[in-house]
Amino acid sequence: MPQRRGALPISDAEVLDCPETYARGVPYDRLERLRARTPVVWLDGRLSDFPGAWAVLRYEDVRHALAHPSLFTPETDGELHAVPEEASAIDLEPPARAMLDRMPDEAPVDFVGDVLTGLPEMLRNTLAGGVHALLRHPGQYERLRERRSDDGLLDSAVEEMLRWWTPVIQVWRTVRRGTVIGGVPLLAGERVALWLASANHDDAVFAEPGRFVADRFRGVAVGGKSSRAARRRLREQRVRPHLSFGYGERACTGAALARVHLRALLVALLDRPGRVRPAGEPVLLRSSARHGFERLPVRWTG
Ligand code: HEM
Repeated sequence: MPQRRGALPISDAEVLDCPETYARGVPYDRLERLRARTPVVWLDGRLSDFPGAWAVLRYEDVRHALAHPSLFTPETDGELHAVPEEASAIDLEPPARAMLDRMPDEAPVDFVGDVLTGLPEMLRNTLAGGVHALLRHPGQYERLRERRSDDGLLDSAVEEMLRWWTPVIQVWRTVRRGTVIGGVPLLAGERVALWLASANHDDAVFAEPGRFVADRFRGVAVGGKSSRAARRRLREQRVRPHLSFGYGERACTGAALARVHLRALLVALLDRPGRVRPAGEPVLLRSSARHGFERLPVRWTG
């Protein structure tokens, strides 16, 4: 594998594109070190099955690349993720009811394989990630249960689930003509991985990014519409949107639908009397592309 000038192997970077790494969890500590030191770093592909590429790790750089598709061209070979057959008007009740019906009282179940079966992959991974977040942040879980009629809090919690979990770990681009990003010159034709999971945990943008804070996005209007007051509040609070759906003209076209579904499923979980509890060790997917679970053992207790 040819080595790019000035791109010596760095141990933190070597594991970034290795699927095995992600079976132990997204390496946020390594990503943090890299963002501080070498936020645009060459991956030689030694531990993965793709050829060398640049990884872009800081929020501002990832957003810049997403916002300039004429410079950073999206790769079109293959679907990024499976798209549900229905994208039109959907009755949200049946999926929520089916989900609850598959959660017996007290008996342990696999939240991913037993409870969320039938949901599209992306929704399954995000909701499972959100439940995992609530199990690890019981104070936030209680707050959401107590204030489940607070629309602003629920909208924000869905955004925080998407940010905290980031189900698509990275998206790929090809450099169309020579450019500079994060101070690093890139050549036309080089491949670039925009690390959404790193951008969404960049502490230059999100305070204490490892904490799930249900309120974090309160007041952030989603779906492209926001009132003047909300925009002013955002500017004042300096809240930035997460990048889980990408950004700009090539962003996910199913984002609005995904949000509506995630909200309905979250509300159904919060409305049901009792609580979800852990029932064993979660098993993560062995993938550097998708952030999800093989198994998430939980039980429902009264
Ligand atoms: C939580 C759920 C979802 C997440 C996190 C997600 C995430 C993403 C991401 C990161 C991209 C790539 C953006 C880029 O390359 O810059 C994308 C593209 C896309 N998504 Fe989703 N997605 C979700 C659900 C859906 C759903 C429900 C649909 C359809 C109903 C959908 C349809 C699409 C399509 C058609 C594209 C390609 C857009 C293009 O290339 O112009 N997605 N999604």
